[in-house]
Amino acid sequence: MCGIVGHIGTKNSVEIVLEGLKRLEYRGYDSAGISFVDETGDLQIYKKSGRLDNLKSLLKGKNLNTTISIGHTRWATHGEVNDVNSHPHTRGSVSIVHNGIIENADRLREELKNIGFKFQSQTDSEVFLALVCSNLDEKKDLVSSVAESFKKIEGNSAFVVMFAKTCEIVAIKRGAPLVCGSSNNLKELLVSSDPFALIGVADTIFFPEDEVICSFGQDQKRELKFLELNLKPSTRYLKKKQTSSLNSVEKGEFEHFMLKEIHEQPDLIRALTQYYFAGVGKDALFTLAKLKPNRICISACGTAAYAGLVIRDFFEKENRIPCVVELASEFRYRNPIIGEKDLGLFISQSGETADTLAAQHLCKSEKVKTVSIVNVEGSTLYRESDANLLIKAGVEIGVASTKAFTQMALTGRLLALAMKGELESEANQVKITKKFSLLADRIDALIVRTSEIKKVAERLYNKSGFFFTGRGSYFPIALEGALKLKEIAYVHAEGYASGELKHGPIALIDETVVNIAIVGPELFDKTISNIQEIKARKGIIVAIGPEDSTELKKLSDYFIGLNFDGLDELAPVYVNVCNQLLAYYVAKEKGTDIDKPRNLAKSVTVE
Ligand code: M6R
Repeated sequence: MCGIVGHIGTKNSVEIVLEGLKRLEYRGYDSAGISFVDETGDLQIYKKSGRLDNLKSLLKGKNLNTTISIGHTRWATHGEVNDVNSHPHTRGSVSIVHNGIIENADRLREELKNIGFKFQSQTDSEVFLALVCSNLDEKKDLVSSVAESFKKIEGNSAFVVMFAKTCEIVAIKRGAPLVCGSSNNLKELLVSSDPFALIGVADTIFFPEDEVICSFGQDQKRELKFLELNLKPSTRYLKKKQTSSLNSVEKGEFEHFMLKEIHEQPDLIRALTQYYFAGVGKDALFTLAKLKPNRICISACGTAAYAGLVIRDFFEKENRIPCVVELASEFRYRNPIIGEKDLGLFISQSGETADTLAAQHLCKSEKVKTVSIVNVEGSTLYRESDANLLIKAGVEIGVASTKAFTQMALTGRLLALAMKGELESEANQVKITKKFSLLADRIDALIVRTSEIKKVAERLYNKSGFFFTGRGSYFPIALEGALKLKEIAYVHAEGYASGELKHGPIALIDETVVNIAIVGPELFDKTISNIQEIKARKGIIVAIGPEDSTELKKLSDYFIGLNFDGLDELAPVYVNVCNQLLAYYVAKEKGTDIDKPRNLAKSVTVE
C-alpha cells in the first residue's frame, strides 16, 4: 500500500515527484524517498523514515536540478520502518520503487545470494532490484531486463525502475494500481499509483492492464510505449482525458480534508441525480435496470461494506430481492455458494482494495455477472467489472471515508429503484430528485449546527469506551460511526445492534462508557427500551434522534435532535453525517492526525 511516482520531462522533476508523493501520502507514511539522475548523469538517492516532511528537510540545500526522478512513500510490509528499508532501493545505475508484496521473495533472495548478490535491506523490493540488475548484466537493456525479472516474481506488485545510464524509466504492475500520464504532447511523462498524483501536470491519463510494460524514454524524441512481456507493442491500456482540477486536491478554507469532504456532501448528493437522470450516467443505470437476479451478493470492505448493509435494505425491503453482504476479506475463503443467477455487486471508493478485487475475480470465475459501485473511474475494479456505477464523490483524500459512504449508499438506492422499474417515468425521477435534494438540505442544516456536536465531543473526548447502537436501518450507521471514531480518534468504539447489547456487552456498561444511541422513527419504542437498559447501568447516553421526542431528550445526557420528516429510507445517510462530525471533533480534541491516522492507508492493496 505504498505510493510510487516517477517523472521524466522538461520541468524540475524533484518538485513534481515531491508534490505527487504529498498527494500519495495517504497510501502510507512510514518513510519517504526519492532518487534522481543529476546533471553529471549520476544517481542521487535521499530517503528517510517518517513522514514526507523528514525527506524534505533532508533535501534542503541540495542541488536538485534534474528532469528525471522516482519517489516513494511507504507502508511497511517486509522489514521494519527504518532508513535502510525505505525506498528507492539502488544498485549501480539502477533504482527502483515498489508497491505490493513479492510472495516468493525469500526463495529468490536465497538464489541470488548463491550467485553472489549481497542485500542491504530486509525488503522484498530489493529482490526485484537484484533480479533486474542480474538481467541487465546479461542483456544490457532495461525493458527486457524488467520483463524477464517480472516473470519470476509471484504476488501483486507495481514497480517503477529508473536506469541512470540511459535516462529511462520502466514501470509494470500485476494486481496493484499503476497509472501513467502525459502532458503537452509528451513533454512531461509521469507514472504513479493513483491518478490523483497526476492532477495539475498530466492532461492525458493511461491505465495499463496487468503485465503491460510502460516504457518512458528521455531522448530527443520523448516517448511513452506500452509493450507486452514478449516486448511486442501492447494495446492493453485505457486512455482518458484528465478531468479533475487542482481545487479537488487542496483543502481550501478547511483545516482538514476530512472536514472539507464532510461539507461537500450536500452538493454531491444534488449532482448525483443530475448525473444519473440527465447526464453521462443515464445509460449505465438504465441498462442495469433490466437485471433480474435471483439474489444479490454484495462484497466490500470497511466503510464500503457498511454502505453495502444500507443498500441491502433497499433491495430486500422494497425490491424483495434476497441480498447478502459479505466482507470481501472473508468471502473467497469460505467457498461461497454463488451461481450464474446471482448478481455480484462490489462497492469501493478506490477500486483498488485487494480483497474486494479478489472477491470480484472469484465471482467472475463462477460466471456471476459483476457490477461495481465505485468512485475512481479507470481503477482496477472499474476496468474488471462487467458494468459500473460511478458514485461521483470526486477525489477523497481523508483516510477516513465520509463522502464516499454517502454516495455509495445513494447510488445503491438509485440502482434498487431502477431495478424495481420506478425510475422509468419522468415524474418519478422528479420525485426522487426532490427527495435527494431534501436530504442534501437537511445535511446542510446539520452542518450549520456543528457547534452543538462539537460541544458533545469536547465533553466526552477523554472517555475510554463508546458503544454506537442502532436498530434496523440504523444498525449499519452504528457500525460506521464506531469505525470512524476508532480510526481517527484512536478510541475503543463498537457498533452494536441495540437489541443485542443485553446478550453480553452490557456487562461493560458503567459510568465511564458512552452510548451513542441512534434512534430513527423506525423501531422507536424498542430502541428507547434498549437505551433505558444502558441508563439503568449508569452509561452516559448521547441520543441522536427525532428532534420532537421529549422522551428521548429526558432520557439522554446529551441530545442531538434531527428532522427525519420526509426522508424515509434516506434518513440513515443523514444520521451518519452527525457521526462523521462527532468523530471529527473528538479526534480534533485528542489532537490526532485526522487526515492520516496512524497505521492506516487509504487504499488497502494488500490482502
Ligand atoms: O477504497 P475502498 O472503499 O475499497 O476501501 C475500503 C476500506 O478500506 C475503507 O472504507 C476503510 O475502511 C476506510 N478507512 C474507512 O474510513
